Amino acid sequence: MNLVHGLVFLFNLVFVRALFIDGCPLWGCRPSGSFSFYLKVPHQNATVNWVSDLTLDPVPNALGCVADSVNIVCQSNGPFKEDTGFICLSVDNGTLQWRDKVLHFPTLPLLDNYGDVTGSDGRFLVHYDFDGKLYPKIKCYGLVPMFSMQLVGTMYLLLVGEQGGLVVRDTNAIPVAEIFLNDTIQNANGTFLPISQPVVNGQRFYLLTEFVPEDDSDSYAPSVLNLQRLFAIDINDRPADIMTIAWFFNFEMEDKHTTLSDKLIFQSRQMQNEKHDMKISRDGYSGFNRRARMNLITDSINSMQNVLWNNASGTIFVSLPPPYLSSRNDLRSFWIFEDKNDTVQLVSRSDNLYVTHMSTWEPDSDWIQYDARKTMTSYIWATTMDSMLIQINADGSLSKSIDLRNLLGDTTRVTTKIALTKDTDESSEVIVFGVMVGLQSYAVAIDASLGTVLWKLPVPNNMVLKGQVSGVSGAASRIRDQLILYAELPGKSAQIISIH
Ligand SMILES: *[C@@H]1O[C@H](CO)[C@@H](O)[C@H](O)[C@H]1NC(C)=O
Ligand SMILES: *[C@@H]1O[C@H](CO)[C@@H](O)[C@H](O)[C@H]1NC(C)=O
Ligand SMILES: *[C@@H]1O[C@H](CO)[C@@H](O)[C@H](O)[C@H]1NC(C)=O
Ligand SMILES: *[C@@H]1O[C@H](CO)[C@@H](O)[C@H](O)[C@H]1NC(C)=O
Ligand SMILES: *[C@@H]1O[C@H](CO)[C@@H](O)[C@H](O)[C@H]1NC(C)=O
Ligand SMILES: *[C@@H]1O[C@H](CO)[C@@H](O)[C@H](O)[C@H]1NC(C)=O
Repeated sequence: MNLVHGLVFLFNLVFVRALFIDGCPLWGCRPSGSFSFYLKVPHQNATVNWVSDLTLDPVPNALGCVADSVNIVCQSNGPFKEDTGFICLSVDNGTLQWRDKVLHFPTLPLLDNYGDVTGSDGRFLVHYDFDGKLYPKIKCYGLVPMFSMQLVGTMYLLLVGEQGGLVVRDTNAIPVAEIFLNDTIQNANGTFLPISQPVVNGQRFYLLTEFVPEDDSDSYAPSVLNLQRLFAIDINDRPADIMTIAWFFNFEMEDKHTTLSDKLIFQSRQMQNEKHDMKISRDGYSGFNRRARMNLITDSINSMQNVLWNNASGTIFVSLPPPYLSSRNDLRSFWIFEDKNDTVQLVSRSDNLYVTHMSTWEPDSDWIQYDARKTMTSYIWATTMDSMLIQINADGSLSKSIDLRNLLGDTTRVTTKIALTKDTDESSEVIVFGVMVGLQSYAVAIDASLGTVLWKLPVPNNMVLKGQVSGVSGAASRIRDQLILYAELPGKSAQIISIH
């Protein structure tokens, strides 16, 4: 496209070349999906710093905000119909700095160290200077609806469409590679559609997918209908074969691990699935067609991050959602894999662990690699369906478990992703998240090593916190560090809040 030529360095390399990642500048805070960042979180007496003046309508499947010491950028919705792009708020007081009017419900953007914003909704790719100056927008193809955007290595932007298209663009925004994860499984042609955000390890990314057959026939073998697959895909610095599949792992219902009880559950699910099919036909779909399958997938996985890469142990942690045809939500299983470069090794599998979210500490690295490795941790923190906060080692063993219901109240329910923060590599881990305890909403900070509550702050207007927790480091502007959260009155309104 002529349009894109001459647009040099659309994404600023400063983001990845810098020694440090400032705040939480993308979904998952780091390309590896760690949901961790450096921040001085108050250890006591946390207070609400500001609540945005701007009141939005609730954002569908809200992901929260990204933030660094220059800018806070959030998804938005309203007050006017065309206001569905990003909003950029002042780190000083939360006032609206500028608004993106191009995009329609984009995923969270990437912020670079200058506060520049790169984002997409699958229709357009846009780039804004920190102060809201818009560069020529770039048209995208085959990515609607948009699933996610990710930075891979130091020079590639990966865009993933809900329909299974993977597009890689270089730093000039020029598309360099595109693949569909199409395959033929037991004679059924179809596509592996993304069911989790891609997470990045160097120039490799991991993507969890689920197979959806192409046509509307109902005559598929059950293993075709429930096949989920974890892909490891490399982006190679060379003129041809830029995107290549390094390995994949199939999650099948009837593999060698399947026990009798699994089989029974599986059969009962098949029966439920059949009922589901019939119900959908009655509702006016012609059979259980591809579009309906895809909508089900989208509804069930939006804003989920089920995969995490831990660099210290070289392992991939996967919280596997039930296949989309399943009407049972309690079938989530937890898997750990070791990446052996051109193969994958299963390390551990737990069928009774319902992990809702994961986070791990990832220190800044680059050329101070030795120091970075010292402070790497090979465990992750996870929340579970029954409100436990657990520390899981790379071999699958648990080394700590904190019962949030004991700490906060019997009815505690975690409503956000968990954020793992440290002041410096040497400081202790503080985990921050939002909860509902009964009908009361709080932001909570936990001292991870002691398993104690540092503070529990009621949310203004009892708004429910959602999405990821991000942070603004205040050192450069001599203000206190802030935690940034998206909060809403369900069905009514939403605001952004800052805690310090
Ligand atoms: C927190 O508040 C308590 C009670 O008001 C006060 O005694 C304490 O000094 C405060 N701590 C900090 C770090 O401000
Ligand atoms: C909020 O901060 C911005 C700078 O970030 C400033 O221009 C504006 O005047 C401030 N507004 C208020 C109400 O303090
Ligand atoms: C892959 O599948 C998608 C969806 O069915 C289709 O649109 C696309 O043309 C296929 N691509 C290839 C290369 O077969
Ligand atoms: C699957 O695709 C191949 C090649 O595109 C085609 O030859 C074959 O007939 C298709 N099979 C079905 C069952 O549609
Ligand atoms: C991952 O670990 C390797 C050493 O095991 C190190 O060279 C590399 O810099 C690490 N990457 C990151 C992003 O920390
Ligand atoms: C990793 O695998 C690729 C092929 O997939 C191979 O070219 C490369 O040499 C391997 N690297 C190591 C360190 O084994």
